[in-house]
Amino acid sequence: MPGMPFPLADLLSRASTRPTSEPEWDVDAAPDTPWPLVEEWLTAAVDGGVLGAGTAVLATATADGSPSARTVLVNDVTENGFWFATSAESPAGRDLAENPAAALVLHLREQSRQLRVTGAVARGDAGRGAAAFRARGGRSQAITLAGRQSEPLPDDADERIAAAVQRLEQDPGSVDPRWTAYLVAPAEIEFWQSRHGTGEVRLRYERDGDAWRRARLWP
Ligand SMILES: Cc1cc2nc3c(=O)[nH]c(=O)nc-3n(C[C@H](O)[C@H](O)[C@H](O)COP(=O)(O)O)c2cc1C
Repeated sequence: MPGMPFPLADLLSRASTRPTSEPEWDVDAAPDTPWPLVEEWLTAAVDGGVLGAGTAVLATATADGSPSARTVLVNDVTENGFWFATSAESPAGRDLAENPAAALVLHLREQSRQLRVTGAVARGDAGRGAAAFRARGGRSQAITLAGRQSEPLPDDADERIAAAVQRLEQDPGSVDPRWTAYLVAPAEIEFWQSRHGTGEVRLRYERDGDAWRRARLWP
């Protein structure tokens, strides 16, 4: 059919999947809890120059199960879980208000690693939301303040952003109260690594009360 560029199977078969490095991982020496491994893998990714090491695909769903996913910045990991921030009024924020559960996928692609996290989501306090807002670049702050995330772009968007830039210049402490920090408290964390020649290794931690159950998974 004219205008249809399909199929794209040949193109996709040429896509590079070759990692830059495949770090060592002694899965038999895995710790009792996932946290030291989370720290080890994120350190290796950040120090190894993995592009977007601090980003994750966040999957949410409405109360009736309609799914959506988008990339977010993971701005902290604590003993409680993984933190990110978005507008409480965005589609993601609305999903989380009615169905406070999510999945995060951190693809550390240059190292052939993947971290999968699923769990209940809780809202951080206003201070955490404000800190996440302030950590954004000035223009991102202005864009957030000036409109509604994921709504159609209005004709006067540039004027509204310019006004928000001015407002931030006059009052650099301005924050958008809609910008909200969210915590994914993992019920499950899976570490996945592929190594040339030896194949894929998967290790899942499942929360069991205060402890964690560990299991190798069939790849
Ligand atoms: C690398 C990258 C990082 C992003 N980080 C964030 C973020 O931390 N928070 C956010 O709200 N959107 C972030 N976005 C934009 C989101 O992917 C998305 O467009 C936005 O959150 C609206 O999603 P929604 O309409 O599903 O709510 C990022 C996009 C990319 C590509």
